[in-house]
Amino acid sequence: MCGIVAYVGNKDVGPVLIEGLKRLEYRGYDSSGICIAGKNGLFIRKAAGRISVLESILDEDKTIPASHVGMAHTRWATHGAPTECNAHPHLDDKKRIAIVHNGIIENYSAIRQFLTAKGHTFVSDTDTESLAGLIGHFYEGDLAKAVQLALHEIRGTYGLAVMSASEPEVLVVARRGSPLIIGVGKDEYIVASDAAAVVEHTTQVIYLNDNEMAVITPKGFRTMTIDDVPVTKDVTAVEFSLEQIELGGYQHFMLKEIFEQPEAIANCLRGRVDRHEGRVVLGGIAQYSRDIVRARRIIITACGTAWHAGLVGEFLFEELAKIPTEVEYASEFRYRNPIVEDGTIVIAISQSGETADTLAALREAKDRGALSLGVVNVVGSTIARETDAGVYLHVGPEVGVASTKAFCGQIVVEVLLALSIARRKYMSQTVLQEFLTALDRIPEQMRHILEQSELIRQVTTQYVKRENWLFLGRGFNYPVALEGALKLKEISYIHAEGLPAAEMKHGPIALINPGMPAVFIATRGSQYEKLLGNIQEVKARGGKIIAVASEGDDHITKVADHVFTVPDTIEPLQPLLTVLPLQLLAYHAAMARGCNVDKPRNLAKSVTVE
Ligand code: M6R
Repeated sequence: MCGIVAYVGNKDVGPVLIEGLKRLEYRGYDSSGICIAGKNGLFIRKAAGRISVLESILDEDKTIPASHVGMAHTRWATHGAPTECNAHPHLDDKKRIAIVHNGIIENYSAIRQFLTAKGHTFVSDTDTESLAGLIGHFYEGDLAKAVQLALHEIRGTYGLAVMSASEPEVLVVARRGSPLIIGVGKDEYIVASDAAAVVEHTTQVIYLNDNEMAVITPKGFRTMTIDDVPVTKDVTAVEFSLEQIELGGYQHFMLKEIFEQPEAIANCLRGRVDRHEGRVVLGGIAQYSRDIVRARRIIITACGTAWHAGLVGEFLFEELAKIPTEVEYASEFRYRNPIVEDGTIVIAISQSGETADTLAALREAKDRGALSLGVVNVVGSTIARETDAGVYLHVGPEVGVASTKAFCGQIVVEVLLALSIARRKYMSQTVLQEFLTALDRIPEQMRHILEQSELIRQVTTQYVKRENWLFLGRGFNYPVALEGALKLKEISYIHAEGLPAAEMKHGPIALINPGMPAVFIATRGSQYEKLLGNIQEVKARGGKIIAVASEGDDHITKVADHVFTVPDTIEPLQPLLTVLPLQLLAYHAAMARGCNVDKPRNLAKSVTVE
């Protein structure tokens, strides 16, 4: 997804901006550009493709001005192809104003018509250029004023940075619906759409809220609303270090994040389980605990992997907390006419906390009176701030586009939430203790599973030429089947379908032909016998069986072609273990097929547009 970095300070701005762009690479992009304030106007360079292309253009250019003020952008195409021309920054037609923008200007064609009628010309296909033109139209020597006037005329979302050739020491930034933070260092300010580009410089940041803006110069900054009402912002500390977002010896972030899971889950649990008293402690929702216990219905809303974690949550809340629960794709929820009765709690699950559909669904639910809770990883993200209360994952930054440790963190938080409700309603202390003991063992059990990485690689490599895979599970492992299929398709580009195993005979069984890989999550549990029957159905048609099974299950080794094992745990916790072999399977498949694991084609880490 698009990324913004801007800088005002005492360093040479070019290298700072390029380094910042590289920190945002993981979000996905297809072109990039830079704007540096110079004595003779704005110096702008853009390039389609990788940031390294832009970097080499700059390396060869002898005309780069020495400057301490500038901004840069990575674009992920929405309006117009990923070309140099469509890359940001965009200029007004007099080339006095430059803008980098994340989000979408919905009424851009009306603005274009308005400006075209006044004689303006446009060179790109983008919505952003219309905003550059509009700011230029209002500009009379005061950039902040022109930005405010223009922002009142637009519909849509933005995180943006603007510069003017006539005010080379001024950077104006604003936000509505697209994140923007200001890092406050010693005599320097670094603005970015993602903390990853800031932490190298400072951990002290300001989070802009919707409809807020800032005017930054080397002498300081002012924050205000876009209606020019001054606002005082708190400076807070970002939680993660630069080291955490670097590779730490792994070949890819995805692999690092898969292997980090034991530690990440231990962190997620830390301080939340009072072993002595035998209870769950979730400070972030304590204020609403009575409403939560009395909830009559839970709606979970999320996208992608977070939706799969939500599906596990549906089972958890119904089974443990006995609250009717449904999980809704955020993109569907936001546009239908959902019924939100008294006593409904909406839980928005999101790693990034910035997913546009999830945010919109959350707002819809709040408008209809629901109590809203966030299950979010990125501290200070929009969803985290807009929910009434919430529980952070605390699994550390997730950089790989394929979500791995966040999935497990989301499930752990749901388990804790379900247990804390259940204990106040029907669950005995003894049963709670069993869950808490089982949770405590999860990190070590994960470590043990990860030792099979090489075996998983060898098995996977035998099947990577097969273009169609099935992932099948039942009960708590049905969402894991969906997640296994999503992981494989998004990073290896193999077509994979995840299904509740019994659904196979209602259609998908027709797909099975000799040699087709079918991955069964076949751990011991309430539906084990039934699943064995489903395995036989695939075997009878020549399919190859790859099973994720319980350690010590001798029977499964006789029916499956390949077995990856997981230790026993309580059935509702099984997804935390059974998903690990599937994450590794997807990783090794992508590697064997030569795919770009951390930056798969067409995908972005955080989907901040609809
Ligand atoms: O940041 P979020 O958790 O809200 O993101 C939701 C999905 O976009 C995300 O899980 C996506 O499906 C991942 N690429 C899956 O690996």
